[in-house]
Amino acid sequence: MKIAKNVNRLGTEAVYNIFAQTKKLTEQGKEIIDLSLGQSDFKSPKHAVDAAIKALKDGHHGYTLPNGTIECREAVSRKIKSLYKADISPERIIIMPGGKPTMHYAITFFGEPGAEIMYPDPGFPIYESMINFTGAKAVPYNLTKKEDFTIDVDEILNLINDKTRLLIINNPHNPTGSFTEKKIIDKLAIGLEKYPNVVILCDEIYDRLIFDNKEIPTFFNYPNLYERLIILNGWSKTYAMTGWRLGWGVWPKNLIEHVFKYCVNSHSCVNSAAQFGAIAALDGPEDHLKKMMQEFSERRKIICAGLKKLKGIKCNLPGGSFFVFPNVKETGMTGEEFTDRCLNEAGVAVIPGRAFGKFAAYNVRLNFATSRQNITKAIEKIDKILK
Ligand SMILES: Cc1ncc(COP(=O)(O)O)c(C=O)c1O
Repeated sequence: MKIAKNVNRLGTEAVYNIFAQTKKLTEQGKEIIDLSLGQSDFKSPKHAVDAAIKALKDGHHGYTLPNGTIECREAVSRKIKSLYKADISPERIIIMPGGKPTMHYAITFFGEPGAEIMYPDPGFPIYESMINFTGAKAVPYNLTKKEDFTIDVDEILNLINDKTRLLIINNPHNPTGSFTEKKIIDKLAIGLEKYPNVVILCDEIYDRLIFDNKEIPTFFNYPNLYERLIILNGWSKTYAMTGWRLGWGVWPKNLIEHVFKYCVNSHSCVNSAAQFGAIAALDGPEDHLKKMMQEFSERRKIICAGLKKLKGIKCNLPGGSFFVFPNVKETGMTGEEFTDRCLNEAGVAVIPGRAFGKFAAYNVRLNFATSRQNITKAIEKIDKILK
């Protein structure tokens, strides 16, 4: 059998390997505290669940339009207007089976041999994987230069050349939890005016998971970039709906027909009942989000304070998401060695920084979207292996 070369260039998410190892250890009777997965321990909002169940009971089992139902796209458009005061026509919105397909499509549309695509390192691993898949050159910008892991606009602008087709930004950021503030995003947006051929993919999937009452400096603030701006977002993180597989992208007008066709060629449409739940989530009350963020704020304090007390570990307070990304260099271990010992000796599943790129060899990612009790217990267990 001869498979296409680009298939062998696909990367993966280490979280799935850790997930398999965790499952095996659990089956052997070991107690594992899982801080590896990128999802919330909160339930999806009841009004979303009820709406999806009702839709199925009412017989909404069929195909929908490949770009999503008009009602769902209108709900996204309303939400963007109410949150960010931007007028985005439902025609420019594509409902996807998760946030991930928007990056998959965007990278596919601009990546090919000879092209360059820029992405954050450390960063969500699928950016680099998909760039390699397309045969484009993957050009990382380094987020470990600044202590708070925010972007260095000058570095990004200096890396752009006439082969650069796409620039990927992720704010708030996975895996570091960094939050890049408005003045830095303003500087980037102004700098990008000089490069009209560069398309921007802004992954804002953690846009509502920001601490200290701050708000995202969304790329919707820059209408002069709209003709070359793709915004990725979705329900997974804000509404604790990861397994529903629901996301949305806002695309430049001239790409819509291509995205539409690509949807037809890949998944036909997003689960129809799920789209009813999606509308209810967007239009419904946001008490669950408020509660979730209040709880995440407390957990953020607990996990950072706990990690800081551990021998050889340095930890920043994340500005958004539900991840911390401590540096473990002074323990004498790499992130990978640390992860291994954490899982097999302490019984705590975390992810090594190397799973997110080459620049974070001494970091590990911990998810604090789990109970306070689990966090405290995990810190105590890690403490024991460091003594
Ligand atoms: C930065 C980032 N973008 C996109 C996604 C994909 O989200 P979804 O699960 O909705 O596909 C994730 C999920 O972890 C993420 O962390």
